[in-house]
Amino acid sequence: MLSWIAALLTGILAARLAQRLCFPYFWKDALFLMKVIRYGARLEVYKKTSKVVTVVDRFIQQAERIPEKPFVIYEGVTVTYGELEARSNRVARVFQHAVKKGDTVALLMSNEPDFISVWFGFSKLGCAVAFLNTNIKSRSLLHCFNCCGAKLLVVGADLLDTLEDILPSLQEDSISVWCMKRESTHPGVHTLLDKIEEASQEPIEAERRSVSCLKTPTLYIFTSGTTGLPKAAVITHLQSLKAAGGFWAYGGTENDVIYTPLPLYHSAASLVGIGGTIELGATCVLKKKFSASQFWNDCRKHNITIFQYIGELCRYLCNQPVAENEKDHRVRMAVGNGLRQDVWKEFHQRFGQIRMCEIYGSTEGNLCFMNHVGKIGAVGRSNFFYKLIFKYVLVKYDMLRDEPMRDENGFCQHVQKGETGLLLSKICSSSPFFGYAGSKQLTEKKILRDVFVKGDAYFNTGDLMAEDHDDFICFKDRVGDTFRWKGENVATTEVTEILGMVDFIQEVNVYGVQVPGNEGRAGMAAVIVGDKCAFDGKKLFDYVQRELPSYARPLFIRLQECMEMTSTFKQQKFGLVKSGFNPSIITDPLFFLDYTQNCYVPLTSCIYDSILNGQKKL
Ligand SMILES: *[C@@H]1O[C@H](CO)[C@@H](O)[C@H](O)[C@H]1NC(C)=O
Repeated sequence: MLSWIAALLTGILAARLAQRLCFPYFWKDALFLMKVIRYGARLEVYKKTSKVVTVVDRFIQQAERIPEKPFVIYEGVTVTYGELEARSNRVARVFQHAVKKGDTVALLMSNEPDFISVWFGFSKLGCAVAFLNTNIKSRSLLHCFNCCGAKLLVVGADLLDTLEDILPSLQEDSISVWCMKRESTHPGVHTLLDKIEEASQEPIEAERRSVSCLKTPTLYIFTSGTTGLPKAAVITHLQSLKAAGGFWAYGGTENDVIYTPLPLYHSAASLVGIGGTIELGATCVLKKKFSASQFWNDCRKHNITIFQYIGELCRYLCNQPVAENEKDHRVRMAVGNGLRQDVWKEFHQRFGQIRMCEIYGSTEGNLCFMNHVGKIGAVGRSNFFYKLIFKYVLVKYDMLRDEPMRDENGFCQHVQKGETGLLLSKICSSSPFFGYAGSKQLTEKKILRDVFVKGDAYFNTGDLMAEDHDDFICFKDRVGDTFRWKGENVATTEVTEILGMVDFIQEVNVYGVQVPGNEGRAGMAAVIVGDKCAFDGKKLFDYVQRELPSYARPLFIRLQECMEMTSTFKQQKFGLVKSGFNPSIITDPLFFLDYTQNCYVPLTSCIYDSILNGQKKL
């Protein structure tokens, strides 16, 4: 550790003169790197001394230091650090004999302060907590219990009804169910609220929660899959501590008020949001559900200075009607992921110069990028030193076969600067991959082996990225979000971004559909037309003709009233792709890119038939 800090410092000094002349980002990079190293050194000490200060330990420290400070504000109720400390002790007291250190318990709750009380309560007992996605349907929910091995479930008062049909199955598996109510109408469901209120708030002895290894699992977080069953990512103390440093690394302080409208069962809100608030000793304003129309009012009401986002959230905010006072707020920065270039620019125009801080890193991944320079459109920033710490590579990807390209010796090939490639991150002791609970097979699927030499292993992010000549890393696409048409690759996000700039289009979702008799997939776009606007086929034709290469132009347009989303606000494509473009099946208005009329024209059955029998040239 010391040796590479020394090496880094020498490197920085040596490179300084030359860099100052040619590299405009030098100081920003260097300062940021120092922060990363400082934080890394702390984790390194934990490793060496086997005395880990976990996120919960950190919370207990803060509760002692600043007991009166507001920790969470939720629907007008303020919970201080001291109050949450006491309440989580009560939760721990209720269960202290019912669970053992090392057990896993499951939590099915919406955003509310007690989500955190229950989470920390069990952490104080040395249990790992599995956060269940509140949108998951019952059958998948049973699967979640199997993969993390939980024998106890705590369910929020508002969510008990959603469990109705699987309660018997849970009882069969002898899983005890506790509901955040005072009375239960369901046989076999224990009430918890009454017991919490009766319990003592004496702290549990520290021995119960102590860990000697950073790699001990502390949480299981289920990553959403649009198809297939959810996977439980193993979150160790190492990852939760890293994530908790996010706000701090971007310059957050204890005076910040952080707005979290994202669900706590995802890592962004729980690890970065709550963990980061604790790290700073700041205040978090928790929202049950994101609301675009209430967003800025909330920010003004609570003097919000930082909010958490995902790209879609910013897009929804931009889609709101313009308000006179929309620049009137104190938000200075936003931390999140997935902000696209077009939305980013519009966001600045509409809501002022808020510093948008992208953090790239999947829940289960072993790699993290931060765009600390704030360059629009980039998810991260790399440089020579960064690459010494994080061993990531971009390799050539075969879109057609949907797998990395291999050379004659079976090894992957690096892409050139500026070229798009699949992002892989080397798995080694300094950046381990902990995989998914209960499934070796799923874990193995995310690992790519024999990449550059026999026996090496890389975490496959599934993301296509490009690194430009200034070392900015840009997200290009998610593997699977591309299709081929006329021998070319079409990145749906790219087309989406471009179509999104058409004035009458409020929202657009681009995907590829199969056309019998044609190789690959033809572009199609589901479109929501903005309020008081009308679809203009001529205008759109001229626009795509101008802005998109011929292979990337959507051949079909489908007008929709609303769009289906996944629980993480991502657009659903699967169903749209499957339903195709047959006007006799689809009731939504369909349009076709007609080069003979220089216009998008209504897709009639007659046109449809001529496409299918090959008379109409595509
Ligand atoms: C927000 O700041 C203003 C001005 O400093 C102050 O008067 C107000 O009480 C603050 N509101 C909250 C909720 O802290």
